[in-house]
Amino acid sequence: MHLGVLILAAGEGTRMRSRLPKVLHPLAGKPLLGHVIETARSITPDEITIVYGHGGETVCNTLAADDLDWVEQKERLGTGHAVMQALPQLQKVDQVLILYGDVPLISGSTLVSLLAALHQTDLALLTVDLPDPTGYGRIVRDRNDRVVRIVEQKDATERELEIAEINTGIMAVSKNRLESWLGRIENNNAQNEYYLTDIISMAVNDGVNIQVVHPVCEEEVMGVNDRKQLAYLERYFQQQQADMLMASGVSLSDPARLDVRGKLTVGKDVTIDINAVFEGDVSLADGVRIGPNVVVKNSRIGADTEILANSVIEDAEIGADCRVGPFARIRPDTQIADQVHVGNFVEIKKSQVATKSKINHLSYIGDTVMGSEVNIGAGTITCNYDGANKFQTVIGDRVFVGSDTQLVAPVTVADGSTIGAGSTITRDTPAETLSLSRAKQISIDGWQRPVKKPKK
Ligand code: UD1
Ligand code: CA
Repeated sequence: MHLGVLILAAGEGTRMRSRLPKVLHPLAGKPLLGHVIETARSITPDEITIVYGHGGETVCNTLAADDLDWVEQKERLGTGHAVMQALPQLQKVDQVLILYGDVPLISGSTLVSLLAALHQTDLALLTVDLPDPTGYGRIVRDRNDRVVRIVEQKDATERELEIAEINTGIMAVSKNRLESWLGRIENNNAQNEYYLTDIISMAVNDGVNIQVVHPVCEEEVMGVNDRKQLAYLERYFQQQQADMLMASGVSLSDPARLDVRGKLTVGKDVTIDINAVFEGDVSLADGVRIGPNVVVKNSRIGADTEILANSVIEDAEIGADCRVGPFARIRPDTQIADQVHVGNFVEIKKSQVATKSKINHLSYIGDTVMGSEVNIGAGTITCNYDGANKFQTVIGDRVFVGSDTQLVAPVTVADGSTIGAGSTITRDTPAETLSLSRAKQISIDGWQRPVKKPKK
């Protein structure tokens, strides 16, 4: 059996009131359609085809991948019409699974159940009972509880509107049947659209025993039409991630104030304070403590390291038993070894810092290779940029840099060097020496301070 997943994503998304196509709006940092594509991939179909709308080229450009086929629906004439546009693409397909680009949280396991149901028949539908079914297509059943058709809200009678079981839109169908049914659908309904849902009554007429499957939870089948619904699903998704983290041994100060936008891998006894944001691939080893308002992106943090409040870490590797922050900024391409201390208002970029070194206050370290047991005094700046090019600073082991020092790169401060406070170091310093470049201090006797001129 050749399985094709068809994702409908041609909706205009007017209620988002956005310049961005709806399906590109992010949920947990990833476009809505990206979630659907990822779930589709998880069930390993033979092909994935996406129907996008007029002007939706940014959608294809953003999410292009070798395993995705794109079909444009030039006019938005209904869900049935959208599926028809894709049929010529589905030559080799025997079974079609229809998903929606704006229904991001459908789960792989529900789709597996739906496909299992299709094995026994030619059409399997995903439906759910809702306390408020307003707006959805209703599932009409006969006296024997068999599905007979779907009626859209706008075409329904008073009695049909009372039906709580709704069409999620997600279904799995035999391709040949789908093709023949779609060939017969018409648009003589309240919205003058070609409804995909009309194939249900055709299937019944053809003696097909329609199988029904339900999702595990409502959120799986909830669509995003406006920003309020998007925010609701975001919070739901984040709550789920918080639950999984706690189940795996993480302590969260407040599960409602955590945002994971990517993949967070955690060891044992990790604690995370409020308002932490994790983006991309982040791993936190055993015993890592994350303070409040910390942002970590694509980084690895070693065992028992503490990241204090308001620190921002991106594309970096931090070793074990370190203390970083509060208010530290670790920028891309930085590797920090074990037992390093980085304090407040310290920025480190594209640098390596070896074990037990300390940069505790108000410093900029860029394009630097730093040895171990180095002490960088407050206000030290590596002057790595001459306005045109970047240069490297090399600092050996056991170096002591006095406060308010500028290291003008390219420059090497050899092992064991001491730099006097307030120096501007422009030449390499020999090992185990004291270097300083300070004007001699003078004191002027009887110095008179200027006084304010009297007002006229
Ligand atoms: C559709 C279903 C309804 C179901 C509801 C679930 C039909 C006729 N009705 O209604 O039974 O309860 O979804 O949310 O199918 N789309 C296209 N091209 C089109 C029209 C739609 O790609 O020409 C896509 C949209 O981007 C969207 C999805 O299909 O992702 C559903 O379209 P929408 O207009 O929201 O359908 P509903 O009227 O809500
Ligand atoms: Ca809808």
